[in-house]
Amino acid sequence: MAATTYVGKPISRVDGRAKVTGEAKYAGEFNTAGLVYGYVVSSAITKGKITKIDTSQALSIPGVLQVFTHENAPRPAHFDRSFKDDDAVAGAPLKPLYSPEIGFSMQPIALVVADTFEIARYAASLVEVEYKAEKPETDLTSKPKGHKAPKGKSGFTPPKDRGNAKKAFEMADVQFEAEYVHMPEHHNALEMFSSTVLMDEEGKLKIYDKTQSAFNSQKYITQVFGLSKDEARVVSPFVGGGFGSGLRPQYQLYLAVMAALELKRSVRVTLTRQQMFSLGHRPATLQTVSLGASEAGALQAIKHEALSETSRGEEYTEVIVNWSGSLYQCDNVKLDYYLRNLDVSTPMDMRAPGAATGVLATETAMDELSYKLGMDPLELRLLNYAEVNQLEGKPFSSKALRECYAQGAERFGWSRRNPVPRSTREGTKLIGWGMATGIWDAQQKKAAAKANLSVDGKLVVASGTADIGTGTYTAMSIIAAETLGLPIEAVTFKLGDTTLPEAPLEGGSWTVSSVGTAVQEACEAIGKKLFKLAKKLKDSPLKKAAFEDIAFADGRIQLKGNPSASVSIIETMRQTGINYIEEETTALPNFLKQMKYSRNTHSAVFVEVEVDEDLGQICVRRVVSAIAGGRVINPKTARSQILGGIVWGISMALHEESVLDHDFGRIMNHNLSEYHVPVNADIHDLEVIFVEEHDKIVNPLGAKGLGEIGLVGVAAAVGNAIYHATGKRVRDFPITLDKLL
Ligand code: MOS
Repeated sequence: MAATTYVGKPISRVDGRAKVTGEAKYAGEFNTAGLVYGYVVSSAITKGKITKIDTSQALSIPGVLQVFTHENAPRPAHFDRSFKDDDAVAGAPLKPLYSPEIGFSMQPIALVVADTFEIARYAASLVEVEYKAEKPETDLTSKPKGHKAPKGKSGFTPPKDRGNAKKAFEMADVQFEAEYVHMPEHHNALEMFSSTVLMDEEGKLKIYDKTQSAFNSQKYITQVFGLSKDEARVVSPFVGGGFGSGLRPQYQLYLAVMAALELKRSVRVTLTRQQMFSLGHRPATLQTVSLGASEAGALQAIKHEALSETSRGEEYTEVIVNWSGSLYQCDNVKLDYYLRNLDVSTPMDMRAPGAATGVLATETAMDELSYKLGMDPLELRLLNYAEVNQLEGKPFSSKALRECYAQGAERFGWSRRNPVPRSTREGTKLIGWGMATGIWDAQQKKAAAKANLSVDGKLVVASGTADIGTGTYTAMSIIAAETLGLPIEAVTFKLGDTTLPEAPLEGGSWTVSSVGTAVQEACEAIGKKLFKLAKKLKDSPLKKAAFEDIAFADGRIQLKGNPSASVSIIETMRQTGINYIEEETTALPNFLKQMKYSRNTHSAVFVEVEVDEDLGQICVRRVVSAIAGGRVINPKTARSQILGGIVWGISMALHEESVLDHDFGRIMNHNLSEYHVPVNADIHDLEVIFVEEHDKIVNPLGAKGLGEIGLVGVAAAVGNAIYHATGKRVRDFPITLDKLL
C-alpha cells in the first residue's frame, strides 16, 4: 500500500475538544424562547386497560399547558395506514396515546406539557389512573414454547439445512449438547432519549433528536403526521451513545412533535433513566447447541436452535443461529430459530444483534466440546477452521482469523496454559484462561456525500450520517484529508442533518465503508477537477501527466515518484480564477463483485480471570482481543471501539441483566444502581491487536467496519475462563457469583 499521511495513523478525535468543553450540544440541550417541556407518564401495569384517567389535578397546577392522554390526544390519520421506519420490523409499531390498551410495562400513557420541566414532572405525578390489569406473560423460559419465525414475513429467512445434522450427530464419536440462556439487556447510553422540536413562524419544524439516523426520524415523522420533508428538518450533530437504540425513532420523538403541532409551540420531551427500560432491549434467548465430532476433533454435526422473545405487536428477529453455519468447517448443519410473543416492548438491535448472543452459545459449546475431547480449545478451532463460508457457499473476501488466533495466543501466552481446570491458584484465587472466536458482517450501503474546496484551502465535507461516539467525524476527516492531500485541520466534516446528502442508518458497522467511500469519491471528483486546472497552468510540470500519474500530498498535486514536479492546490485555484469546487456523489456498493464473496470481520479473544474460591467473586484480569477487520482508518478510535466492545462483553458475561418480576411483568432494576454495568474497578488489562487485511472486495477503502466485532465472543471467552478456573460450567448468563457457589 502507498504511504499515507493520515489513514492508519492514530489521530485524536476532531470533535474531542467540543465534547469535553460542552460546546458539543445534544438533542435535549438546544433552546429557544418560549420552549415548553413534556414529561411522560408511564403505565404502572404491564398488561390490561386504562379504565379511568383523571388529569384535572395536573391541569390545575399553574404553568401546566396540557395533559395529553388517549382520550384527547390526536390520532394522526396516518397512524391507521402502514408506516415504517428504516429499522422497523414486521407488525404494528407502537402508537403512543392511541388507545387505553396496555401491552408492556411502562408504556407511555400520558404527556404533561408545562412551562418548565419541573412543573411538568410534578404535575405528571398528579395524573390519576385506574386500570383493569391482566396477568402478563414475560418469562421466555416458561412453557409453552414459541412459534417458528415466519419465513420472509419477519424479515428473517432461516438458513437451509446442510447435509443431515440429526443423523450425523447420532453417529458422531463424541456428542455434546447443552442449553444456554441469557437475560434481556437494556440500552443505557449516557444520553437519555430526547427530542427538542422548534417551531418557526410558518409552523415548520426543526427537530433536534437523539438518533442514529436523522433521515429515519424524518421519515417516521413525515409519514405519521403527513408532513413534507421541508416541514420537518431533523438535526442530530452529537449523540451520547446509541448501541442500536437510536436506529428506530423512539416515542419521545412522536410525543414532542405531536405536542408541538397541537400547541403550536416549541416542545422538548426527554425520557428519564427509568423510562429507558420501557424501550426496546436485547431480547432474552434460550439456545440449544449440539455438536458432534470425531475422536480427533473434526466437527461432524452442528445443530443450533434459538428461542427468542418479541412483543405481541411486532416480530423482532435477529440473526442468532446463522453464525454457527459460518464459523467452522462442518458438512452437517441444522439451524432453527423460533420466536415467542410476550407482554414486553418490542426488542431492538443492540450492538452485534444476534451475534453477541448466538456466538456466546456456540463458542461456549465449542469450549465444552474441547474438554470432552481432551483437546486444547484453540487447537479444536484451528482443526475446524472454515476456509470457505459453507453457509453461503462462498469464499471469504478475506479472512485473517488464523493470524488473529496466532497473534492473540502469542501475546496472551496461551501456550503456557495448563489444560486441567482448577489447576492454577494464587491463595484463595482460582485462575483460569479461556478463549473464543468472534464474527460479524462487513457490509456497504448506498450513501451520498458532498465536498466543497474553497480557494482559501478549506475543505468542507458533508453527509447526513451520525456519530454515536464511534468516531465518524474523525474517520471522515481523515479520509477527506488523505484523498486531497490537505492537512486535517483544513477539513470540516458535517453530519446529522436531513438537509445534507442522504446516508444510511449509522449501524451494522457499515458507516466507514459506506459513508467513507462516498466521502472518498466526492473528494476524488474534486481532485480530478483540480488536476484539469493544474494542467492548464503556465509551465505546469503536470502538462503531460495522466490522472493515474499524480498524487495529492502536502497541499500539492505531485507527479508520483517525482514530488518536486508539483503545483500547489491553492495556487492552482487562484491562478485559474476558481473560488470553490463542489462535488456531490452517491457511492453504491459494487454488488456484482461483492456478491461472489462472504464478507466478514473476525476476532480471537483470550481472557484471564480470577475467581475467589470462597466468595465466588470474579475478576477479569486480562483480555487480549485480536481483530481482523480489514484496513484500519484510525487505529486510535478503532482501538477505543474494540475496548468498548470488550468492556461490554465482560458486562454481558458478568453484570448486565434486566431482572423481571414475572408476576407483574415489571423490570425491578430499572436504574443504574441496580442494573449493573462494569465500572473502572471491574476493568483491568485490555489489549487490542489489529491484524490488517488488504481487502479490495468489501469497498474501495478496504475497511470492513469495527463497530460490533469487538463485542462478539468476549462473553464466551470470559465464561470459558471461569470454567477453566473453577471447573464449574455456568450456562445461564450473566454469571453472577451466586451461580459459582
Ligand atoms: Mo448497531 S446495533 O448496528 O447500532
